[in-house]
Amino acid sequence: MMKHFINLSDISSEKLTQIIDTAKELKAAENKQLSAAKGKTLALLFFDPSLRTQVSFQTAAWQLGANVSVMQSGVNTWHIEHLPGALMDGLAQEHIMDVMQVLGSYADAIGIRRFGFGNQQDQAFQDVFFNEALKFSKVPLINLESSVSHPCQSLADRLTWEEVHPNVEKRKVVLRWASHPKPLPRAVPQSFVDMALRSGQKVEVVCPEEFRFSQNYDRYFRHLAQEFDGSFSYKDEIAEDAHVIYVKSWHSIYHPDNPHKDQELRHQHMDWTVHQHHLESSPDARLMHCLPVRRNVVASDEALNHSRSVIYQQAENRMHAQKALLMHIWDLI
Ligand code: CP
Repeated sequence: MMKHFINLSDISSEKLTQIIDTAKELKAAENKQLSAAKGKTLALLFFDPSLRTQVSFQTAAWQLGANVSVMQSGVNTWHIEHLPGALMDGLAQEHIMDVMQVLGSYADAIGIRRFGFGNQQDQAFQDVFFNEALKFSKVPLINLESSVSHPCQSLADRLTWEEVHPNVEKRKVVLRWASHPKPLPRAVPQSFVDMALRSGQKVEVVCPEEFRFSQNYDRYFRHLAQEFDGSFSYKDEIAEDAHVIYVKSWHSIYHPDNPHKDQELRHQHMDWTVHQHHLESSPDARLMHCLPVRRNVVASDEALNHSRSVIYQQAENRMHAQKALLMHIWDLI
């Protein structure tokens, strides 16, 4: 069976644990010449910018002996349409149905990044673009961040919180919303909570009322908390006994198609920067952020440079986690 990785639910919780354990082994072994995936090719297609996802996947694949092709839609390859039946008389010269079938004849897996404000199909936790791409994929499709999820980021997030608090079974992980000049996708926070709950953690979300998750996600998260014996709740303050403070900005559910309205809401909370005192009030907490981060807007320099900030460990872990993911997708573990 083809092993797509669009959402965390595509992989069983047992397999997710195995991928994290493999990532730990690969990291400890520092084995950069595995050659396990020699002869394989990974195609990476970006509709949105990236530093970590692009380079960590390239490096992970190279270290496994695989080749990598990187394309940026509208930069070094065509603008790409995805809507079925579209009249393509505008910017887009190529359709995703053709892209997927052609790339699938060259590559052994395809990674795609396409988030984008207003694309979210919250009713079904689905992303229209990825649904279309999946229909035509002849090889495993990896989500490099859609409008609803960033599962590769959450693999690295989990690897990081397991490393920094290895002996705690049920960590208290606090997701703290932050101010930002732009409306950012909800993919990272949704996948962070999803992964935390799937691994049985206690999740607390600290955010203004208008930035809470949708009712559908609320229900989904409460179901996961029950299934995996964790917990999910909203709080007014960061807990003093937090093990992780994950700072992130995301857009409101109230205006998914209107960035200006969203900006009005965000402007009411421009003081939601995370500071050093937040970390010092939670003595066991490690500060996490997926990066890129707007310093002194999302979190202060003092917080991001704090001895308990693990943002670079988290970024490095993208590579180790994705190496293990590729090994899973290509049946190498
Ligand atoms: N965290 C993350 O996905 O980083 P990039 O946007 O740089 O890939």
